[in-house]
Amino acid sequence: MTIDLSTSAADGVATAIDVAAERERTVGTRRRHYFNAAGAGLPSDAVVEAVIDHLRTEQHVGGYEAANRAAPALDGVYADAASLLNAQPDEIALFDSATTGLRVVFDALRLGRGDTVIAPRSSYVSQALRLLSLRDYDGVELVVLPNGADGALDLDALDEALHAAGPGAVLSAVHVPTSSGLVEPIEEIGRIARAHGARYILDATQSVGQICIDVDRVGCDVLVTTGRKFLRGPRGTGFAFLRRSFLDQLAPWAPDVRGSDWTGFDEWMMSSPARKLETWESSVAGRVGLGVALREALERGLPATERHLVDLGVDLRDRLAGITGVEIADPPRSPSSIVTFTVAGHAPRDIAAALRERRIDSIAIPAGHAQWDLGDRGLPGVVRLSPHVYNDETDATALLDAVADLARQVR
Ligand SMILES: Cc1ncc(COP(=O)(O)O)c(C=O)c1O
Repeated sequence: MTIDLSTSAADGVATAIDVAAERERTVGTRRRHYFNAAGAGLPSDAVVEAVIDHLRTEQHVGGYEAANRAAPALDGVYADAASLLNAQPDEIALFDSATTGLRVVFDALRLGRGDTVIAPRSSYVSQALRLLSLRDYDGVELVVLPNGADGALDLDALDEALHAAGPGAVLSAVHVPTSSGLVEPIEEIGRIARAHGARYILDATQSVGQICIDVDRVGCDVLVTTGRKFLRGPRGTGFAFLRRSFLDQLAPWAPDVRGSDWTGFDEWMMSSPARKLETWESSVAGRVGLGVALREALERGLPATERHLVDLGVDLRDRLAGITGVEIADPPRSPSSIVTFTVAGHAPRDIAAALRERRIDSIAIPAGHAQWDLGDRGLPGVVRLSPHVYNDETDATALLDAVADLARQVR
């Protein structure tokens, strides 16, 4: 199948994506064929301008006064992050990355001997390392679930593991991994987690901004994401949804002046909303830029964006699979824009480097970033592509021609 990459067909439900307009407002599309949204999506010019404007204001009036002036925009970040996920603004906490969000949440769970954490093969490297360290230093029981035939986590195995662990087990789930186009069945996972009284923490770093998420349908207690990938925000931004009814279960490891009050010589108290997990200091400029990116994502529309990006993924996979020597590495259940592949006779990092020389941005993911996935599948690495709404047919043609040339070089 070859789809028209200039616009996606509208069906009356979702509006078509205006690819030309997205390119027009994204200067990074002019000089490169950029396929690395899963690393860091290209920000729009308005996102970058907002960051620079805020830094200019800091330059003239100082960081605190600049933050005062940006207060409405900063409130908008909470409101827009919440509306993206069907949550409430006071259920949002801002962080500098998804990893920080996950770390703070897992610290606040205060897990130890007697606790069980259940994780899928799709776990991100830093979270897997965290869970292994909880096992090795804190005596937490760690269960890594097998996958089913479709490459997603095995729901029966999840059910059994949660049954064996009993109520209160922690499920460290993932929506879309770093290492493939897999989309985990997060709503079914939520139903099983709820049936067992498990605590459901979802890493949606690769899906927020790409795939529609309604936290009530998912039923997660916590969702963590980053700003710089499919949301196209600045680096050094991220946020979490923390369900209001779950907040009492989180006791911040390092309470901060941002979310706690020192009320007397011997007394202190935490504020109740999600912000109790934040820290006072942050890149305000980054958050202002994140606000612009969130607004743009909402205005573009998540259903239209999702449909368009899934189509891009399908199209790229189909066309790559037609090149002799190319193997698609995505599991069968991969309705996302992330596409992974290998080329016979070439190391993934050499492919990525050769593409870069032709001004095509991809990335090589080594097994060391996904031992429970790539390592377990016997893949030393893959090349990962992740198009966004600003990619058009000129990008796709340049990419596919380059991969075909490279694949021919060993034959
Ligand atoms: C699935 C997944 N989770 C978490 C992260 C970590 O995000 P961050 O770098 O914002 O901490 C990544 C980063 O690539 C990721 O792919």
